[in-house]
Amino acid sequence: MIIPNLEKARKRSKGPVLIREHDYKVSPEEKRLGIGKKYFIKTYGCQMNEHDGENIKAILEDLSFEEADQYIDADLILLNTCSIRENAHNKAFGMLGRIKHLKQQKPGLIVGLCGCMAQEETVVENILEKYKWLDLVFGTHNIYRLPKILAESMKNNHQEIEVMSIEGDVVENIPVKRDSKYKAWINIMYGCDKFCTYCIVPYTRGKQRSRDPKHILNEIQDLIKDGYQEVTLLGQNVNAYGKDLSISYGMENLLEDVAKTGVKRIRFVTSHPWDFTDRMIDVIKTYPNIMPYIHLPLQSGSNRILKLMGRRYTKEEYLTLFYKIKKALPYSSITTDIIVGFPGETEEDFLETLDVVKKCKFDSAFTFIFSKRVGTPAYKMKDLVSVEEKNKRLQELNQLVNQYSKLANEQYIGKTVPVLIEGYSEKNGTCLMGYTDTMKLVNVVGDAKYIGHIVNVAIEDVKTWSMDGKIAE
Ligand code: SAH
Ligand code: SF4
Ligand code: F3S
Repeated sequence: MIIPNLEKARKRSKGPVLIREHDYKVSPEEKRLGIGKKYFIKTYGCQMNEHDGENIKAILEDLSFEEADQYIDADLILLNTCSIRENAHNKAFGMLGRIKHLKQQKPGLIVGLCGCMAQEETVVENILEKYKWLDLVFGTHNIYRLPKILAESMKNNHQEIEVMSIEGDVVENIPVKRDSKYKAWINIMYGCDKFCTYCIVPYTRGKQRSRDPKHILNEIQDLIKDGYQEVTLLGQNVNAYGKDLSISYGMENLLEDVAKTGVKRIRFVTSHPWDFTDRMIDVIKTYPNIMPYIHLPLQSGSNRILKLMGRRYTKEEYLTLFYKIKKALPYSSITTDIIVGFPGETEEDFLETLDVVKKCKFDSAFTFIFSKRVGTPAYKMKDLVSVEEKNKRLQELNQLVNQYSKLANEQYIGKTVPVLIEGYSEKNGTCLMGYTDTMKLVNVVGDAKYIGHIVNVAIEDVKTWSMDGKIAE
């Protein structure tokens, strides 16, 4: 049993990060573990977690498990969890409650918890005390060890917990089973060293480790051969890509090299305003296959709160960067993340946030009420704002944000824009759906033959979160 330790997770080791190309290994016995058995994975959280889910699926299929359509049909259930806010915790624990009932009816069922919550010391303490029926727990740093951890748990029939607190190296040979045939997530880096005071990610994902550009470019070449149209470069703070490499090679170099592969669409998330360089803006402008879409989290518009959050920029610096991007890329869409109710946030601070929203008129924004996370500096900050007040601020902010989303969408009426058609719409099964270059969701009337292609769509009507159009060819 190896359990997580918050103090160790907080540390940043100085040593170089090694790239390991052969550490994912499966023995012939492990290859047979899942014969005749089905698995189900429920993933919560960000795109990075979704992509980890794609790795875990491929590993389980390597062990001969087959995917089940619903959790009640599975012999192995894994919850790939998120720690970012309390409600993410609540969702996972709620699901565990339902699975416990299932396990009572199906004693052979294997249940595991992985992802960011597994990296939290307090969560694992809770599991040891109250969730003794859980079979396995593994973290974000040792996904490549899943065959060993699962084999151990199945053989000995005891609770197997293996969570490393220190991140370790970059393992390159983990298989992947992608959810889409047309667009792919690609990790360009792991971890985060920014330590924003409210955020748990630097503890659950470890120190920043960039992948070797050679491996990233090879992965993209393979995806192009397989017919993929779009790649999204993933990192908690992609603009800091390369800063930890021994060579002088940054995000602008990577973006340029990825653009030169000729892949049709390139996206990247998330950009921290701190590391966004002029050179990056130039590269985005130069290459038409780098999509004009930038997610640029603001978090707060108040300089006092930004400082308490440890964000390293002021309201004025954010606005300067925003206008610079808009000037260079007038057609681009810019979205953001905002937290309300950070400890000590006054009405004046909140009005500063609204002021930035009014100035930037974001294409859309993810808005959150501050949630205190054990182990982060903000956990201990005095929080005098009432829940009612926080809810009121969130509602007011959302109203403004939605108004601008609708306004941004209205600019598209009557225009023809490129959309990568991904499949049928979930809401209306006879309608196709896809995203514009600027990341707007479009419901499209058209023939199934367009699925997997980038086609011109004439926009006829818009709503707050989506648009309606028809194929223009
Ligand atoms: N790496 C990304 C964000 C990852 S988390 C970045 O720096 O932009 C996604 C969003 O969740 C954050 O941008 C922030 O707005 C929100 N978030 C993170 N921690 C939070 C917390 N403790 N309470 C509320 N929202 C939080
Ligand atoms: Fe969290 Fe800040 Fe890192 Fe984003 S940059 S993951 S908000 S610590
Ligand atoms: Fe959640 Fe971990 Fe992503 S905390 S947002 S799953 S990095």
